[in-house]
Amino acid sequence: MDLYEYQARDLFEAHGVPVLAGIVAYTPEEAKAAAEKIGGVVVVKAQVKVGGRGKAGGVKVAKTADEAFEHASNILGMDIKGHTVNKVMIAQGADIAEEFYFSVLLDRANRNYLAMCSVEGGMEIEVLAVERPDALAKVAVDPIVGIDAAKAAEIVEAANFPEELRAKVADTIQKLWVVFKEEDATLVEVNPLVKTGAGDIVALDGKVSLDDNASEVRHPAHEELEDKGAADPLEAKAKAAGLNYVKLDGEVGIIGNGAGLVMSTLDVVAYAGENHGSVKPANFLDIGGGASAEVMANGLDVILNDPQVKSVFVNVFGGITACDAVANGIVGALNTLGDAANKPLVVRLDGNNVEEGRAILAEANHPLVTLAATMDEGADKAAELANAAK
Ligand SMILES: Nc1ncnc2c1ncn2[C@@H]1O[C@H](COP(=O)(O)OP(=O)(O)O)[C@@H](O)[C@H]1O
Ligand SMILES: [Mg+2]
Repeated sequence: MDLYEYQARDLFEAHGVPVLAGIVAYTPEEAKAAAEKIGGVVVVKAQVKVGGRGKAGGVKVAKTADEAFEHASNILGMDIKGHTVNKVMIAQGADIAEEFYFSVLLDRANRNYLAMCSVEGGMEIEVLAVERPDALAKVAVDPIVGIDAAKAAEIVEAANFPEELRAKVADTIQKLWVVFKEEDATLVEVNPLVKTGAGDIVALDGKVSLDDNASEVRHPAHEELEDKGAADPLEAKAKAAGLNYVKLDGEVGIIGNGAGLVMSTLDVVAYAGENHGSVKPANFLDIGGGASAEVMANGLDVILNDPQVKSVFVNVFGGITACDAVANGIVGALNTLGDAANKPLVVRLDGNNVEEGRAILAEANHPLVTLAATMDEGADKAAELANAAK
C-alpha cells in the first residue's frame, strides 16, 4: 500500500524524523483554517499518489490564509497524471537553502535493502540516475544490521555531503531507517530532504510504501491508512469477505480452489477465448481449501456483480473439501443468491468424491448450470457462453 504524503509525514513525525507542520484539508475553507492555525507562509500541496506534483502545478506557496484558500480552490479537483485531487496538505513553509535526496527500499533483485542518497535532490531521481549516475550514491543495507551509525556515516560520505552536515543528515537517515523497519515498509523516500536557512535538516516530501503482508498481522493500525474510497469496489467487497480476488478485464468470471489451479484456469480460458470472440478471464478468485456454501456464495456474489462478466467458470478440484461438499456449496449459493444469480455457470468438478458431487448438481438441475467433464471442455463452454452474451 502506497501512502499519501500527509500520512508519510505523520509516520515520520511519530518516529522522530524532523518534519514541518502539516494539516490535511478537503475544502478551501478547511485549507484556510489550517493556514491560519499554522500561521505565516504555508504551501498548499495536492495529495495524490504520484510524483511530480510540483511541476504539474499541484504545489503552491501561500503568504496569507486567503491565498491558501485560493490555491486550494484551484488545486482541489485538479487532475495530476490521471489522479484527481480530493485533498490537499497545508504545510508550513520552509526556508530552503539546499535540497537533497534519500531513499531506502527493498532490493528484490539482490535479496537485500538498498539506500540511495544524493546532495542533488529536488529533481526527478530517475533523471539524475540516468544523467549523472555518479551523483547518486547506492549503498547496500544488511537487513540484520540495518542503518546503524556506521552505515549512516558510510551513506553520507558516499553521497559527498560536506563535512559539517554529515552528522545531522546521518542522524535523520537513521530515523528514516527506523520508520522503514518499524512500519515494515518496502520504500521510504524523501525528495527533497532539505537544509533550511537556519541549518536544520527537514524531510519536506515523503513517499512510503508499506508491506501489506505485514500490515494485516503486525500493524492493525495500518488499516486506517487505507484509502477505501479509491479501491476498486469489487475488490473492496471481496476483501471484506476475506476472498483472494483480483479484477481483470475480460468477460468470463473465474472461481477455483488453490492459486495454482486458478492461474492455470485463467490461461486455459484465455486460450479457449481465442475461438470465441477473444473473450478473456474477468478475474482471479481463489476460494481456497474450504469451499463452503458461504464462501462459494460470497465468491459468486462478487463475480456476478461485475457488469463485465457474461459467464462464470467454476473449476474445483476436490481435496480435503470433497466434491460433494463443493456441489452442495454451489447449490446452496445459488439458493442464497436467488435472482441475483443471473448469468450462466459452467462447473467442472474433479477429485475426491467427484461422482457424488456431479450427482448433486445433476439432481439440482439448476437452469443456469452446465456441467463440464474436463477443464478444457469447461473453459471452452464458458468462453462460448460469454461470447454469445456479449
Ligand atoms: N513545505 C514546503 N515549503 C517550501 N517549499 C516546499 C515545501 N514543500 C515542497 N516545497 C517545494 O516544492 C517542491 C515540490 O514539492 P514535493 O513535495 O517534492 O512534491 P513533488 O515531488 O510531487 O513534486 C519541492 O522540491 C520544494 O522545492
Ligand atoms: Mg518530491
